[in-house]
Amino acid sequence: MCGIIGYIGNKQAMPILIKGLRRLEYRGYDSAGIAVCEKNPAGSEICRVRSIGKIDMLADKLAEVTLNGTVGIAHTRWATHGGVTEENAHPHVAQDGKLALVHNGIIENYRELKEHLPDVTFTSDTDSEVLAHLIAKHYQKDTGTDKDLRVAVEKALSHVRGTYGIVVMHKDHPDCLIAARMGSPIVIGIADDGHYIASDPTPILAYTKNMIFLDDGEVAEMHPDKMKIRDLKAHEITKCVEQIEWNDEQAEKQGFPHFMLKEIYDQPTVFQDAIRGRYNLHEGTSFLGGLNMTDDEMRSINRVILIACGTASHAAMIGKYAFERLAGIPTEVDVASEFRYRDPIIDGRTLVFGISQSGETADTIAALREAKRKGAFVRGVVNAVGSTIARETDGGSYMHAGPELSVASTKAYTNMIAILLLYALQFGRLKRVTTATGQRMLHALRDIPEKMKMILDQSEQIKQIAIKYKAYPNFFFLGRGINYPVAMEGSLKLKEITYIHSEAYPGGEMKHGPIALLSDQFPIFAIMTRDQLYDKMRSNIEEARARNAKVILVATQGDEQARELADDIMYVPDTMELLEPLLNTIPLQLFAYHTAVALGRDVDRPRNLAKSVTVE
Ligand code: F6R
Repeated sequence: MCGIIGYIGNKQAMPILIKGLRRLEYRGYDSAGIAVCEKNPAGSEICRVRSIGKIDMLADKLAEVTLNGTVGIAHTRWATHGGVTEENAHPHVAQDGKLALVHNGIIENYRELKEHLPDVTFTSDTDSEVLAHLIAKHYQKDTGTDKDLRVAVEKALSHVRGTYGIVVMHKDHPDCLIAARMGSPIVIGIADDGHYIASDPTPILAYTKNMIFLDDGEVAEMHPDKMKIRDLKAHEITKCVEQIEWNDEQAEKQGFPHFMLKEIYDQPTVFQDAIRGRYNLHEGTSFLGGLNMTDDEMRSINRVILIACGTASHAAMIGKYAFERLAGIPTEVDVASEFRYRDPIIDGRTLVFGISQSGETADTIAALREAKRKGAFVRGVVNAVGSTIARETDGGSYMHAGPELSVASTKAYTNMIAILLLYALQFGRLKRVTTATGQRMLHALRDIPEKMKMILDQSEQIKQIAIKYKAYPNFFFLGRGINYPVAMEGSLKLKEITYIHSEAYPGGEMKHGPIALLSDQFPIFAIMTRDQLYDKMRSNIEEARARNAKVILVATQGDEQARELADDIMYVPDTMELLEPLLNTIPLQLFAYHTAVALGRDVDRPRNLAKSVTVE
């Protein structure tokens, strides 16, 4: 969603803030702004520059001014309340520009709060501006000579309903920044040259790996060389400093034209990171220590629920196949936004996994809290270290995909599948999977990175196919069995970055209605690899061909019959059926990517979207 970056220290703030905004642009990119506290002989002053559009537009504006100061805050926005205008861009100011605030989240009772600020003339339509004025009001109410900005922030927040991650600065406190969190992440980087504050670790990595993650209800008071964190009752608390292993270089494009392409190509490497040290070939089993369950607890599980959104929910659907097939445990997949409202059946023998790249998806967090309330074992499969889901679940595994900065998720998806397969095997070995079957699966998993590379080598050929089809306005993606979620993922990738309409169907379902849409203008993209449903899928494709639809196929290397059926074909190496999605999705990712490039789309930052959806 929106991105926050702040700095207080002994360096100039502006370059840090701009670089940070560029790193955070993936979180939201409809407008941006920056405010720096300038110290002048006559006193301090807050200078603010804002712009609609991408960070480049803000940078152009900043090229015309000089902002001198070692304290500052900045924000990149994804509109929720109020349209995309400069007035609605953060930072918002109050008290005639003396106080500035950046905010992520939603103030649900902002209308109510507004009524308590009758003397204020609001300049934006946002809920965030209301919060700035509310803090200013409490600050002004403080009649002491030594007005306390932190206390004003705390008092204001006690009236707020909703979610926030905020950073506040005041011209009368030029050596202080106040940050607070309720539902929207705030990370503080601790370095020799000051404190860095952000909504996720990526913009801080260039300066320090030592980070503190605020929990809900915590308020940080930061100065260049010291910091105090307090809870809601203003009690000082000691937080543990975490070492973030990601490095700054991983957050660069490294010569690729887009983050998405780099992240597609990262897959063989990060897949190895996901499985490394997590299995025992000799015993044919996996062991993810973070699961935090005894063998008896694991044996007691009689239902697994996988909760996720979007791409993560497609990975979850593949996880369902693995859990049912390997462990024989009935497994459901729930889209997080539906789960909590459907009164799910949960008891102490239910194991719930929340699957999330960002670990900050509001719907997934809310669903996991609901599952916890109902007494389930709740675990996370998460990429972002220190994120809310990682901290709120009672165990789980990091997927080690490294920073994923393209809005469209790719490498996190394959690593989610990797972790779910390992978990399914771990449960399976306690139940019905033999050592030999476990060993076979682990051998096949170890071969996956090399096979992924073989598909990536076909990128140029896939590009030509993408160029050939780029003008078609509609696509069907078809798959069956474990390849149905793959079709769904291919369809999602295509629509989100190319804006071409596409739908995914299980191959066998086409004839129950959707086939009516087929014509020579409506191509189908089908996954027909050599698994148990090969012949069924083949018949479904014949049905589509009979309606003159063009056919693009993903087929198993060496399948010459498939070539006869297809207008265009992409071959993938053979693997165990359960592992097929790890390979079969890659041509679909590349197809979406090359189509988007051919259409001149903004691949990494598609319209209307934002990475990390922190609102419900
Ligand atoms: C699609 C995409 C989204 C996310 C979804 C969940 O490419 O990126 O569908 O998968 O918003 O996000 P996380 O995994 O961060 O919970």
